[in-house]
Amino acid sequence: MHIKEAIRSRRAVKNFDPAHKISAAEQAELFGLAQQSPSSFNIQHWRFVNVTDTATRQAIQDAAWGQAQVTEASLLLVLCADIAAWSKQPERYFASAPQPVRDALVPMIKPFYEGREQVQRDEAMRSVGLVAQTLMLAAKGMGYDTCPMIGFDAGKVGEIIKLPADHAIGMLIVVGKATKPAHPKGGYLPLSTIVVENHF
Ligand SMILES: Cc1cc2nc3c(=O)[nH]c(=O)nc-3n(C[C@H](O)[C@H](O)[C@H](O)COP(=O)(O)O)c2cc1C
Repeated sequence: MHIKEAIRSRRAVKNFDPAHKISAAEQAELFGLAQQSPSSFNIQHWRFVNVTDTATRQAIQDAAWGQAQVTEASLLLVLCADIAAWSKQPERYFASAPQPVRDALVPMIKPFYEGREQVQRDEAMRSVGLVAQTLMLAAKGMGYDTCPMIGFDAGKVGEIIKLPADHAIGMLIVVGKATKPAHPKGGYLPLSTIVVENHF
């Protein structure tokens, strides 16, 4: 599928075939494509909690206003961010880079984030947003549909997945085979509203 077609046809789907299974190989391909996303200093804050346990899925659905797609889709992913990833062995983010690149970039990470809690969290959420969209487009390209979700009690879901204190939940994403098309599109703002030339 061409990237333009994937972008235009990706929709937030709510109805999925509960019998469809996504193989381990396809899951690995999906996560491998998603992780090609950009992140500041290549920190890769994203962590995907792949909820495979039926009772855990049900508990998350209960914390998500009973949304059907939480249990009906083939995959339920809790997209989390490690807010403190910048401080955890940052040399691993350039493990494959040429030595001069590693030597230049790794020492820049700590001074940029240390003591700047808002920046640390903003950065983590930027990374989750980028990986989420890459994951959804990759799924579309693989013949699957998705739904991103923030309609849930983040505190409760955090407890269910035992979210570490220095992590945050960005959103849920489900992936699977649609059984019904998404609702008609809500419509888009005019480009003249969203594109600002030079300054506001
Ligand atoms: C961060 C985020 C949270 C969302 N939360 C929900 C949700 O909880 N439940 C739901 O059915 N759709 C949810 N949506 C889907 C949006 O309603 C949908 O993306 C939007 O209406 C545009 O439609 P489209 O994605 O089909 O183009 C969410 C989307 C995003 C990006």
